[in-house]
Amino acid sequence: MSETVTDMLSRRVKLSNGLSIPQIQLGLYMMSGAETTRSVRWALGGGYRGFDGAQWYGNEREAGQAILSFLSSSTENTAGLTREDIHFTSKLKDNRTNYDAVRASICKSVKECGLGYIDLFLLHSPLGGHEARLTSWKAVEDAVLAGEVKMAGVSNYGAKHIEELMATEPKVRPVVNQIECHPFNTQTEIRAACEKYGIVVEAYAPLARGMRMRDRTLGAVAKKYGVTPAQVLVRWSLQKGFVTLPKSVKKERLVENADVGGFELAEEDVKKLDGLDEKLVTDWDPTDAD
Ligand SMILES: NC(=O)c1ccc[n+]([C@@H]2O[C@H](COP(=O)([O-])OP(=O)(O)OC[C@H]3O[C@@H](n4cnc5c(N)ncnc54)[C@H](OP(=O)(O)O)[C@@H]3O)[C@@H](O)[C@H]2O)c1
Repeated sequence: MSETVTDMLSRRVKLSNGLSIPQIQLGLYMMSGAETTRSVRWALGGGYRGFDGAQWYGNEREAGQAILSFLSSSTENTAGLTREDIHFTSKLKDNRTNYDAVRASICKSVKECGLGYIDLFLLHSPLGGHEARLTSWKAVEDAVLAGEVKMAGVSNYGAKHIEELMATEPKVRPVVNQIECHPFNTQTEIRAACEKYGIVVEAYAPLARGMRMRDRTLGAVAKKYGVTPAQVLVRWSLQKGFVTLPKSVKKERLVENADVGGFELAEEDVKKLDGLDEKLVTDWDPTDAD
């Protein structure tokens, strides 16, 4: 049965800690402050409930303010949403060996966004080395225990980094690993390591950053279902069970990217798309860092 945009944006993925997060979230990378303000408000109005930010993106403040002003607007917030209905992720820019510096950095993010707490806080990458990774994780763990952050995860972690963290038997287990993932880079090895520990994959750059929209196979699959290449890519991500984070600053694309409930990719088409893997890196790839 066909699902509406609202249905799709209400879908949630269950995590190993028993909580759940929206399956389609708006990515906030490469948005100016003004674009963030506009896009977050449009997205909330269109039914988005999850937002993927980071210290690095420099727009935690604008994202948080846009969420708060939407929530307090009686004309926009017609559904009567509250803070608890919204999911906001941020990420630590740099891993450090100085525990206090990381704790302070997390507190700064909470303050900056103004949302009272951050739903999900990630180590943005494994860069910095063994000691910095484990010290930073400890600080994130303690931020969860202190209630500054609800849940914790990692990003750009390769299989060896996941093994390294899990070997310490952390008090707080990572609920997600956010990695580049789309048909042009399917990340089978890292996905297997995540699965071993019940870690949900968050697929970043799910649209391959727009770099393969003219691919012939992707185009043929899109034509078969009467949808756009972007919609095929989001659908592929959802059918793999990922949390997916398509970014757009355009109102019509925000809707288009979530308007994927009217079709289901047949297994043969998922396989065709899987076959496009060329290990494409659209931005950076620190998954093999020492
Ligand atoms: N953890 C990490 O290291 C990391 C790294 C990269 C990304 N991320 C996260 O993942 C999110 C998504 O990744 P991304 O922003 O790099 O790339 P993406 O979502 O794969 O692609 C975004 C690009 O596609 C365009 N686009 C959006 N919708 C489209 C549509 N329907 N048709 C055609 N083009 C479309 C966008 O342009 P317009 O904006 O002009 O529409 C933009 O140029 C980020 O925003 C961020 O939250 C995380």
